[in-house]
Amino acid sequence: MMEMLLTGPREELFSDSLREKLDVWVAKYPVGQEQSALIPCLHILQDANGGWLSQAIMDALAVYLSIPAISVYEVATFYTMFELEPVGKHKISVCTNISCMLCGSEEIMDHLQNKLNIKPGQTTDDGLITLKEVECLGACVGAPMLLLDKQYHEHLTPEKIDQILQGLAS
Ligand code: FES
Repeated sequence: MMEMLLTGPREELFSDSLREKLDVWVAKYPVGQEQSALIPCLHILQDANGGWLSQAIMDALAVYLSIPAISVYEVATFYTMFELEPVGKHKISVCTNISCMLCGSEEIMDHLQNKLNIKPGQTTDDGLITLKEVECLGACVGAPMLLLDKQYHEHLTPEKIDQILQGLAS
């Protein structure tokens, strides 16, 4: 896990390597428009923190971007790609929106729940996998689909799910 300082003057809020990554995005926008870099900055910090965002991280980012903390909370709580609680090493987000539902996402979700012995929103006892149910991920043509960490898997079947899970366990 990458070091985060989270308190102190703006220039000391995050480690040097994190600030370097954040500033790549901040520099893309005019001075005074730092909020535009919010989403990529949240991704960077979430990745650096084992897959989730604490309130301390969000507060530090608000200071870093010179925006109100509520602006960070609004975005972090709106998008399902951001986690506000610790998650497993891997995250499986199953789309159950209309196209995926019509193509069998219910069966996919049932299969995953049975295999992992958890419900959506839960993490396996070994901390390996968090299962989520999400809205359309924009890959309707490949329905039913899921997002495993940052990779899309499409045209899912129970057999494909078994292969995916085997790959995670090995
Ligand atoms: S409905 Fe599932 S990706 Fe669009």
